[in-house]
Amino acid sequence: MGRIIAVVNQKGGVGKTTTAVNLAASLAAMEKRVLLVDFDPQGNASTGFGIDKKKVEATIYDFLAGKATLNECLHTVSSPWLSVISASSDLAGAEVELVDEENREFFLKNALQTAADDFDLIILDCPPSLGLLTLNCLVACQGVLVPLQCEFLAVEGLSQLLNTVELVRKKLNPDLEVEGVVLTMYTQGEGLNDQVVAEVRQHMGESVFTTMIPRHFEVSESPSFGKPVVWYDPWSSASWGYFNLAQELINRMKTREEGV
Ligand SMILES: Nc1ncnc2c1ncn2[C@@H]1O[C@H](COP(=O)(O)OP(=O)(O)OP(=O)(O)O)[C@@H](O)[C@H]1O
Ligand SMILES: [Mg+2]
Repeated sequence: MGRIIAVVNQKGGVGKTTTAVNLAASLAAMEKRVLLVDFDPQGNASTGFGIDKKKVEATIYDFLAGKATLNECLHTVSSPWLSVISASSDLAGAEVELVDEENREFFLKNALQTAADDFDLIILDCPPSLGLLTLNCLVACQGVLVPLQCEFLAVEGLSQLLNTVELVRKKLNPDLEVEGVVLTMYTQGEGLNDQVVAEVRQHMGESVFTTMIPRHFEVSESPSFGKPVVWYDPWSSASWGYFNLAQELINRMKTREEGV
């Protein structure tokens, strides 16, 4: 069964979508069977893969609502190893609709149960909140990947996120682990950046990935071409960052499996 990893941080604009999209593309380049699920009503991950949301017939919302099968929702993109399920603004409605449902935290988990056999990794791109959509991701996944921007106030909110993860682990998902923290938008030699890195590494220890993702202008340019930066400019420093992150993630998974 494939491992489900949710990319979570309730803080906006820290690099969740960029990380989800580029990690998925990097893992696919390493011939892992990857499913990327856009679980944010903003639909940025869908746009990041050049999916025209106006033309999409079935999104993750339709899948959750039982209106479409998994196969009807899957988009094939340039890599044969990678499939994407898109999201659109109707997913915001799902959050409201789910509130009165029994087992409202388990909808995504139940929906993905059959899909997990067909993929080595399923990456979930979460919205910037700790609401019901993110809660569904935390219940559905085994690993939480937390992108942290190398900036002042980056760690603010981290303890709230880790408390939520701990609560979900205790009450709803005993398999839940922190997959790791990844430092994003790093600029070498910038005093404040290095200060934040040192603080986060001291605070979070081994769970912080060695790889940091450098800030690079092509990262923000690539979504407008409908491509992850690892396809748009594979030789950029940020692309190398994401390839290295994917390798580190695979190594951690191997170590975990061997330890079991
Ligand atoms: N390494 C990087 N170098 C340069 N720009 C970056 C980098 N990573 C992310 N960005 C840019 O920062 C902005 C926020 O990134 P992103 O959309 O991935 O964050 P997010 O956490 O998913 O945001 P939201 O909370 O709104 O979902 C985007 O414009 C993105 O292109
Ligand atoms: Mg996002």
